[in-house]
Amino acid sequence: MSDWTVLNEVAKRAMAHAYAPYSGFCVGAALECEDGTIFEGVNVENSSFGLTICAERSAVMAAVTKGKKRFSRIAIRTEAEEPVAPCGACRQVLAEFAPNLAVMSVYSGGQIEWTLGELLPAPFHLGGE
Ligand code: THU
Repeated sequence: MSDWTVLNEVAKRAMAHAYAPYSGFCVGAALECEDGTIFEGVNVENSSFGLTICAERSAVMAAVTKGKKRFSRIAIRTEAEEPVAPCGACRQVLAEFAPNLAVMSVYSGGQIEWTLGELLPAPFHLGGE
């Protein structure tokens, strides 16, 4: 079993930078590349609510911007009382790069782990493969 301590800590630190004035729901993400590099993401809300971007997608954008496209794990951190699973849009974006990504959600009451394949068993692919 892999050790999530560092990744969870990075996600927790990132959460402090979330910009969530409308929902008050702060999310931090830490995306680990296969080479061990970690990219952080936070949710960034907007007064035009639909423009909000989730922490998970922020982390993917940060990584791809630096030329990283091979990912092994993502940790998601909130202060929610229930586990927070990535939204459908984030699942699809993560699946573009890592259909079998390990996903850990840490919340105030505990933590839960899934594979992305469990969360999104049939991602969209161009051509339908
Ligand atoms: N949010 C995330 O950042 N990640 C998730 O997995 C679920 C939702 C954000 C979007 C919005 O800023 C706030 O949480 C409430 O939906």
